Amino acid sequence: MTNEKKSAANTFTITDNSNGKSWDLPVIDGTVGPRVVDIRKFYSDTGCFTYDPGFTSTGSCSSKITYIDGDAGVLLHRGYPIEQLAENCDFLEVAFLLLFGNLPNADELKQFNHDITYHSMLHEQIQRFYSGFRRDAHPMAVSCGVVGALSAFYHDSLDFTDPYQRIVAETRLIAKMPTIVSWAYKYSIGQPFTYPRNDLSYAGNFLQMLFSVPCEPYRVSPVLTKAMNRILILHADHEQNASTSTVRLAGSSGANPFACIAAGIASLWGPSHGGANEAVLNMLMQIGSKDRVGEYVKRAKDKDDPFRLMGFGHRVYKNYDPRAKIMQQTCREVFDELGVHNEPLLQIAMELERIALEDDYFIEKKLYPNVDFYSGIIFRAMGIPTSMFTALFALARTTGWVAQWLEMIDDPEMKIGRPRQLYTGATQRDYVPLDKR
Ligand code: CMC
Repeated sequence: MTNEKKSAANTFTITDNSNGKSWDLPVIDGTVGPRVVDIRKFYSDTGCFTYDPGFTSTGSCSSKITYIDGDAGVLLHRGYPIEQLAENCDFLEVAFLLLFGNLPNADELKQFNHDITYHSMLHEQIQRFYSGFRRDAHPMAVSCGVVGALSAFYHDSLDFTDPYQRIVAETRLIAKMPTIVSWAYKYSIGQPFTYPRNDLSYAGNFLQMLFSVPCEPYRVSPVLTKAMNRILILHADHEQNASTSTVRLAGSSGANPFACIAAGIASLWGPSHGGANEAVLNMLMQIGSKDRVGEYVKRAKDKDDPFRLMGFGHRVYKNYDPRAKIMQQTCREVFDELGVHNEPLLQIAMELERIALEDDYFIEKKLYPNVDFYSGIIFRAMGIPTSMFTALFALARTTGWVAQWLEMIDDPEMKIGRPRQLYTGATQRDYVPLDKR
């Protein structure tokens, strides 16, 4: 520990009451948000580790990409509120913003659109890779496998130390994800793979690859394209969540970008994270009717019942998730446009939200609907099967993962991620031969 004097406002003093020793830890201010206590030298100075399972109080990196104020329900990408981006932008504008720090001007957007569009086809041999999967394989299993396998097909963009290769990998990942995910669906239903179309937007092209068949022309609905565009924007990035931290951790060892994104997809799959949108729909179907909502809210509050209200609660938001608000509005727009009124699952969802938001348990624990609460209902109305929901999340989040990975590689403070532990196992003991055990 250095003895240099620091101003009291910029230090955090910690005292070991077992020996009375104190240490001044530096405090770092971000541009906005809570102050951060720098514990990088904590172990070498004090001989202690900090303990924080689930990283509830730990910042793992510095980042300029996304800011969340969970108490106020605010989400900013590069400073722009999510509401403004979702209302005004094409998804690729937001992708550019996340990757490069500013909204693109017209020329930059044209070039970026071109770069993404012209990388959307998959190496033809990858088609054969698909046929190795069982027909009923989950699209997340297929997407995870195929994205990991890209590293076996694109050897010229694996070297993370080369800035040019990094950009090629970034372009390939964002461009090919709609093809990969839509093909996972096509394979599962036994339809021929549809190739990307360069005349369509990112969202429109994805819908066309999902739903068109070679035997008839397919008209991409502007309403559904707008909704899909918005859904992609709402899922594009969300700071250091489980899957993004997984991508960063995998990348910190120097693993290639395709392997890192495959790791992110695996992490996203769980029902506490991206898998929640699928779980919400299954839950709503299980509830089945409005009059059974109270019963399920009661179960969610019961400590002895593992059931949780899927699509409710968030580690960071202790207020309404701003994405959920936009999702709810998009849901109404889609239903109006499709002329679907009184969709039973939407009625159940709205009743569930109403009851939960008035309930003391949910109020006290600050549990509000999150982004996944309404997304599944919209996907279902669009004709997207439940098993595809999380794969769609992965498609959108790939942009955020790649942006975070690029930021990490450029960060002079980057180190291989290597958390420590509180060891609670056996202390040293001697080997016992088999016949003596
Ligand atoms: N239903 C009922 N009780 C809940 C719920 C819920 N959905 N979420 C949290 N709680 C309770 C929980 O039992 C705990 O109670 P207590 O303090 O009495 O033990 C308290 O609220 C705090 O919950 P926690 O599990 O300690 O909070 P966390 O920050 O570790 O978990 C969460 C956050 C999102 C995993 C959790 O709220 C959850 O499981 N929600 C349902 C799954 C879901 O919708 N996930 C999507 C998250 S948003 C999209 C994404 O990030 O991918």
